[in-house]
Amino acid sequence: MTLKVFIASDHAGLNLKNFVKDYIQAKQYDVVDLGTDVLDSVDYPDFGYMLAEQMKQNSDALGILVCGTGIGIAIAANRYAHIRAAACRSSTDARLTRAHNNANVVCLGERTTGTEVAKDIIDTFFATKFEEGRHVQRVEKLSNPV
Ligand code: RB5
Repeated sequence: MTLKVFIASDHAGLNLKNFVKDYIQAKQYDVVDLGTDVLDSVDYPDFGYMLAEQMKQNSDALGILVCGTGIGIAIAANRYAHIRAAACRSSTDARLTRAHNNANVVCLGERTTGTEVAKDIIDTFFATKFEEGRHVQRVEKLSNPV
């Protein structure tokens, strides 16, 4: 089955979002772009929340969020218990957050990460599987804070 990928950004992440969208569309993923579409200033939590809401109905989907740093929009998406969003600056981050945290959303920063590194991050994030084992109990605890 084709992997569904939701993608969204604020204005500060728009150019990198469009670049990444073109990159993954060429790889035949089923990509749903939730905006933003223009450079007018918007609030990154709105786009993190929109993507999180979409992923509620699509539990097998993965997400990509982009803002200036990848951090604010990750914080926003992580307000939802079903989201494990990781701001990644390297393919090592991407590999380990999929393998250990079962991250389902990768967050990029247009002001911090160039397009070549972004491609490596995306490729690694999609190619890496959750390792399960000792990580299962820890990841379950992320959805159930005490
Ligand atoms: C927008 O100026 C910027 O603050 C936002 O994109 C992001 O970097 C926040 O974490």
